[in-house]
Amino acid sequence: IPERSLVHQEGLPKLPVPPLKQTFERYLATLEPIVSEEELEHTRKLVDEFLKGGVGERLQKSLERRARKTDNWLSEWWMQSAYLDCRMPVAVCTSPGVVLPRMHFQDRQGQMRFAAKLIAGVLEFKKMIDTETLPMEYLSGKPLCMDQYYQILSSCRIPGPKRDTVVNHAIGKIPPTHITVVHNFQFFVLDVYNSDRTPLTVDQLYMQLEKIWNSSLQTNKEPIGILTSQHRNTWGKAYNNLIKDKTNKESVRAIQKSIFTVCLDAPMPRVSDEMYPSRVAAQMLHGGGARWNSGNRWFDKTLQFIVGEDGTCGLVYEHAPAEGPPIVFLIDYVVKYITEMVRSPMIPLSMPQKLRFNITPEVKRDIEKAKQNMNIMVHELDVKVLLFSHFGKNVPKQHKLSPDAFVQMTLQLAYYRMYNTCCATTESASLRMFKYGRTDAIRVTTVDSLKFVQAMQDPTKKAIHGQAVERHLLGLKMQSIEDLTSMPEIFMDTSFAVAQHYNLSTSQVGSKTDCVMCFGPMVPDGYGVCYNPMDEHINVAITAFNSCEETNAAKFAQAVEDALLDMRVLLEDKATAEK
Ligand SMILES: *[C@@H]1O[C@H](CO)[C@@H](O)[C@H](O)[C@H]1NC(C)=O
Ligand SMILES: *[C@@H]1O[C@H](CO)[C@@H](O)[C@H](O)[C@H]1NC(C)=O
Repeated sequence: IPERSLVHQEGLPKLPVPPLKQTFERYLATLEPIVSEEELEHTRKLVDEFLKGGVGERLQKSLERRARKTDNWLSEWWMQSAYLDCRMPVAVCTSPGVVLPRMHFQDRQGQMRFAAKLIAGVLEFKKMIDTETLPMEYLSGKPLCMDQYYQILSSCRIPGPKRDTVVNHAIGKIPPTHITVVHNFQFFVLDVYNSDRTPLTVDQLYMQLEKIWNSSLQTNKEPIGILTSQHRNTWGKAYNNLIKDKTNKESVRAIQKSIFTVCLDAPMPRVSDEMYPSRVAAQMLHGGGARWNSGNRWFDKTLQFIVGEDGTCGLVYEHAPAEGPPIVFLIDYVVKYITEMVRSPMIPLSMPQKLRFNITPEVKRDIEKAKQNMNIMVHELDVKVLLFSHFGKNVPKQHKLSPDAFVQMTLQLAYYRMYNTCCATTESASLRMFKYGRTDAIRVTTVDSLKFVQAMQDPTKKAIHGQAVERHLLGLKMQSIEDLTSMPEIFMDTSFAVAQHYNLSTSQVGSKTDCVMCFGPMVPDGYGVCYNPMDEHINVAITAFNSCEETNAAKFAQAVEDALLDMRVLLEDKATAEK
């Protein structure tokens, strides 16, 4: 929910409401490859009734009125239905992780020095936010909405009994000047500005981190942060319980208000180099379980940077305020800043404040429950990171294909080969060409799976221009909740549910840094696939759930690898034939 108006945003166009007939024609077309002939026939009838009976027109009119009256007819509904109303845990279910390339340190000094540099880099980035001087981004010459950048620092999600909220302290009267650091489950307030408002230098930050480290050596502390990994209703109750105590309330507020969080993680079990990227992806998504680092988090916090002793680094972010691209832009910026950094003088500082928590028997019981559930989740999540090294986006580009379309069709091929059928597939598409635009979803699976690549280019464009099916359907459904006494049948139809049961939930998040983003599957029997096509290689993170017998992240990764190689052969054969 945008709360702040940025001057350069004023000229951005408003998100359009697509024509009703167009959406339903496309809706029926997207159903064709994934539902049976009978189901499709039934849905055709419902669509007909909906369009001819006047209900569709009426809702469309209301939606268009809403579009005229608001900056963005979709953004608030989207924020609520996709995130704030969602009661699943944020850990694994909605919060993406990002794995950064392994750094060359192997001890706690290295860990703290890197964390200090990282903090300094983010503070440097923050200057651009504070002065509203972030460079505008463009897509095909059109300016993009920059609002999300202003929502990722100093913000935090807060659990509610039925619906969560997000607070952004950057726009408050007194913007925060501290970050939170967590080590051995103990949280600290680290003031990151000197009294003259200059950010602390790397050496100062290092010293402060060392003090924090030295005063959190005990490892027998309650992992209070693990509470935030719970189902949202459970956490909502536990939260009210926790903040009944005044000290706890103040500690929680300090975390929520902080600019971001840095998690200094305890060493994780060592694994082979081959397993390492997958293990780190899991560490970013859930922390490894109650006895490892799952309690070394505050999952409600929008941005949490994670640094281990063995060169591991990355982050996890709460998804409600922003999509991947602004996060990755921040990472690229910070990584570049770190490599070009110079040293500056040292001024001594006082000890960072440790946040106290009073663990009442009730809080203790909530923590134990959260530990159990987190451990179940850790066993449930199946992660495989594929670092595909044979080629990168250079190959599709040589053949004048969009790398994204190329990877998407590879995923279709891999899935088809494994399951002998295609499935509902979604890819998120940015709506940032429009004011306060977030995402729409490309329904990837089409009847033309043989003419796949050409077919792919087209839906991508429809989605980013605000002409896709998914969010318009959501809008009509939300509008009917507001306007009508009963839900139109079209939204309760089997096809409607099947089309949204995304066995493949996918996203391309490209970056300059050699990182890989990862997220959990959208459905219990599906895959989450996030990929970053670099010039000469492709990073792909695949997730699934172990309780589903049909899915297997490593097998799917193998199928993707094989399919990528075959797709190259196909392109080369085609090129030779055309010569
Ligand atoms: C932290 O502890 C180490 C080892 O005991 C010591 O060398 C170092 O000076 C301490 N650092 C601070 C900032 O207190
Ligand atoms: C994919 O979705 C369908 C339901 O739409 C389900 O029957 C199937 O088992 C799912 N999972 C896999 C791995 O195919």
